[in-house]
Amino acid sequence: MNLYKYVSDEINKKLGFEAKLDVPKNRDFGDFATNAAMVGAKIAGKNPRELANEYLPLLQQLDFVKEVSIAGPGFINIKIKDDFILKNTTAPKQMSAEKPLIIDMDYGAYNVAKSLHIGHLRTSIVGDTLNRLFRFLGHKTISYNHIGDWGRSMGLVIAWIRKLHPDWPFFQPDFDATKDYSEYTMSAEELDTYYPAAAKLGKEDPAFMEQAQIITAELQRGHAGYNALYNIYMPVSLDSMNKIIRKLNMLPFDNDLGERNAAKYEEPVEKILRDKNLIEKSDGAEVIVVKKDTDNAPMPPMMFRNSRGACPYDATDIMALYYRKITDNPNKIIYLTDARQKLHFEQLFRVSELADLFPAKDLEHIGYGTINGNDGKPFKTRDGNAAGLNDIINLVTEAVNKRVAESGKKLDQETIDTIALAALKFNDLMHDLSSDYIFDPNSVTSFEGKTGPYILYTAVRLNSVLKRANSDIVKPESFELSDEERNLLIEIMDFEHTILSAYDNRATDMIANYAYDLCQLVNNFYHNCPILRDDIAPEIKAGRLYIAKLAFDTLSTTIDLMGLKIPNEM
Ligand code: ARG
Repeated sequence: MNLYKYVSDEINKKLGFEAKLDVPKNRDFGDFATNAAMVGAKIAGKNPRELANEYLPLLQQLDFVKEVSIAGPGFINIKIKDDFILKNTTAPKQMSAEKPLIIDMDYGAYNVAKSLHIGHLRTSIVGDTLNRLFRFLGHKTISYNHIGDWGRSMGLVIAWIRKLHPDWPFFQPDFDATKDYSEYTMSAEELDTYYPAAAKLGKEDPAFMEQAQIITAELQRGHAGYNALYNIYMPVSLDSMNKIIRKLNMLPFDNDLGERNAAKYEEPVEKILRDKNLIEKSDGAEVIVVKKDTDNAPMPPMMFRNSRGACPYDATDIMALYYRKITDNPNKIIYLTDARQKLHFEQLFRVSELADLFPAKDLEHIGYGTINGNDGKPFKTRDGNAAGLNDIINLVTEAVNKRVAESGKKLDQETIDTIALAALKFNDLMHDLSSDYIFDPNSVTSFEGKTGPYILYTAVRLNSVLKRANSDIVKPESFELSDEERNLLIEIMDFEHTILSAYDNRATDMIANYAYDLCQLVNNFYHNCPILRDDIAPEIKAGRLYIAKLAFDTLSTTIDLMGLKIPNEM
């Protein structure tokens, strides 16, 4: 049950107005605290403490109340009855939303022929967890890996390949599109080197950049040779993306429809924009003005078509809105990118309103902060290069290997990889999304403290107790709860309230924090309430096993929402 909601609703019903319920960190004085007397005092013009005294007997009548007491200027502390807790605590299960929404989720959004780097970590990990969360709550999500497969980087890659192999058929005037060119394929490693090299040259040599831009426009207009070459490297790139997606234990994306797919809708979108008179000429380009009189900050126009006639990032995002509207017709679209794209999405949402595609209130951009190294600057690998996603995974795996070797434990590679992934992902999830954070492969892999390995370790330990007990687990009729047991059960009951808040706030750190708090309480319980020891009476053993099982189910559901896996041993 959602204990928080139940208690809050019952108090409001009893008193006839809305009060605010708090969950104090320290539960010694109460499981909940309400400001009802403060609110009531304002309404009635009375002294809050006096009023609190009048409320106590009323609240005492509620079926779940064990004790009520007054604190400070008139807060009321409420302790819940043990049998109520025991009776109503259940393991979490898939929920059904009151109003199920269709939510298009745009995260990951990797770029073709550019290897994944540290900047893609948060969009991947947080996006995946939000997707799992929304589904758990009963919404229908459609996840888009809106790949960057149609912009200037494609022109750069093709220009580079032409520079390497000017004799290849794709570049010849008599190119024959009916032939098979699969022999011109390349390895992922080779492909990975093209874009950085081309981008570097493009910066140094304006003529090369000019060529790349012309190629981009020609590719988009259907140049047969360029398109054939594109169709050769595109699957190589998709394949490496999918490898990382699996390595990160992310849910598979529902589709890879990105910029190129969107660009197919250029014509209908242009018609909508022209009918509404939204396209203006500007220096040979065509733009959409989105500035409002009320703007204080600069608000540049969106680019619909650049001076070479190509469709830039701005334009494909408008077309993607149209595509999603005519296919999914979602209630919401959520984009998850680096916070530096805030302006782009502000512009896009304005175009959406102007063009009557989606009202801005149904479009959300979640922008995340940067991942820095210990020096406070964007994280780099030891050789000073921007870190690739594979480098990051390797660094964390190395750190886990070292720790495990030091501890003298023997764990197989699969277990090590599972722990490393948990270290990396949990650390990402536990940080507030909008702020930057410092990434240190060493500290995130510690088996103690607020880390992924600590969470997994707690789960493995609980699981091993349950396995060793090897007995049927039944709910006890009645059971006298110790403080540790009671606190743990209340935390379990708080699961639903927590994930609903995580949903409302789009805050995956609430899930990670919950996992950590739960683990702390599990470990208190584990240390103070022995289960399988010989001197433990059978009915106590049965009661504790029941609690351990509820805790394990709750923790494993939480772990699942974070996209982590529980190893068999640790
Ligand atoms: N591919 C882009 C990048 O790596 C992110 C795309 C985000 N999604 C979107 N619809 N614009 O920066």
